[in-house]
Amino acid sequence: MMAALWRASALLVLLLAAFLPPPKCAQDPGMVHYIYQRFRVLEQGLEKCTQTTRAYIRDFQEFSKNISMMLGRCQTHTNDYKSAVNTLALRVERAQREIDYLQYLRESDVCIESEDKTLAEKLLQEAEEEKKIQTLLNASCDNMLMGIKSLKIVKKTMDTHGSWMKDAISNSPKVYFLIGSRNNTVWEFANMRAFMEDSTKPPPRKLILTLSWQGTGQVVYEGFLFFHNQGTANEIIKYNLQKRTVEDRMLLPGGVGRALVYQHSPSTYIDLAVDEHGLWAIHSGPGTYGHLVLTKIEPGTLGVEHSWDTPCRSQDAEASFLLCGVLYVVYSSGGQGPHRITCTYDPLGTITEQDLPKLFFPRRPRSHSMIHYNPRDKQLYAWNEGSQIIYKLQTKRKLS
Ligand SMILES: *[C@@H]1O[C@H](CO)[C@@H](O)[C@H](O)[C@H]1NC(C)=O
Ligand SMILES: *[C@@H]1O[C@H](CO)[C@@H](O)[C@H](O)[C@H]1NC(C)=O
Ligand SMILES: *[C@@H]1O[C@H](CO)[C@@H](O)[C@H](O)[C@H]1NC(C)=O
Repeated sequence: MMAALWRASALLVLLLAAFLPPPKCAQDPGMVHYIYQRFRVLEQGLEKCTQTTRAYIRDFQEFSKNISMMLGRCQTHTNDYKSAVNTLALRVERAQREIDYLQYLRESDVCIESEDKTLAEKLLQEAEEEKKIQTLLNASCDNMLMGIKSLKIVKKTMDTHGSWMKDAISNSPKVYFLIGSRNNTVWEFANMRAFMEDSTKPPPRKLILTLSWQGTGQVVYEGFLFFHNQGTANEIIKYNLQKRTVEDRMLLPGGVGRALVYQHSPSTYIDLAVDEHGLWAIHSGPGTYGHLVLTKIEPGTLGVEHSWDTPCRSQDAEASFLLCGVLYVVYSSGGQGPHRITCTYDPLGTITEQDLPKLFFPRRPRSHSMIHYNPRDKQLYAWNEGSQIIYKLQTKRKLS
């Protein structure tokens, strides 16, 4: 309050200095006199105001000192004490009114109105946002994960890192095999049996892409391979596997690709996922081992539909997948087992962690290089210590 007054008077002096003509060319002494007088009035007003405030504070200090002194003697001077309390109550009330008034002056009507308006606008925006998300995640799908039912090792290779998958959307029986975490070679097997039996006929087709991928986050979506373009921070390539050409490309916004998605997956900066609702990207937020960010991508136009900051940390994470619009993040302490889902995120907020049982994966020697859900056959495709694994799942209907 005092500081504000002093600031105001300092401002006045400055203003006056600006208005006063330099003494030499003071053509109109009347004008100067007038300004001087106005300034005196303002100054006196300020002075009075300041003095009043000072007096108030002094009075209050003295009064409270008196009260505490009286309180010490209140056994013997009950009457003094009583009337003092009454007076105090009145004065406090008055002071409160003064303070309220000052407060009122500070936050003018205009301010309050605009704050109300901002709040209303914000609420409206939130409601619209929620509606948009509801529409976005409106596939007829209401399963939630209850457990890992079984593990099947489909194939064994020597490579620690890589990814493998079937088309998550189309009915194609083909199996795609991407060895390592940086390469441009995709092996295409005619079907699961050809993949499992390897050297038998028909042999896999070797597709050399015109660009290389980075990490193990690739997905195949309706005949297109989506992958993080090696050598870029945040570029996603949509690759036409039939024509063997780049169909389209996009940049994931928001400083994506500066940090690993999962602490224990040493080359994946952008993970992609497909579930019943479509295509997603999972990436890290700002900071090393920050929180995971979930971004929904329209696979046709490669537009970003929406983005969510999740509470799931990238520290100690090894992989994640989406099932029915819910993100499940797999963690393992220090990269060793047990592998356990300890963080889930539901953008619609229907599932909370309390609704889920303890979700453990069968013990494996190392952390997973990738775990991807396939909404078509509703199982997980994973890579662990060179083994290509299928996890069958136990699900149940969401509670709501
Ligand atoms: C405090 O007490 C003194 C003497 O007892 C009295 O003169 C003075 O008015 C009191 N001050 C207030 C603010 O009540
Ligand atoms: C969601 O889809 C169902 C049909 O699948 C439809 O009846 C409903 O209106 C949709 N809701 C929204 C919010 O789009
Ligand atoms: C790319 O992968 C192929 C086989 O899939 C392998 O022969 C080749 O050495 C790899 N290249 C690099 C640079 O790792």
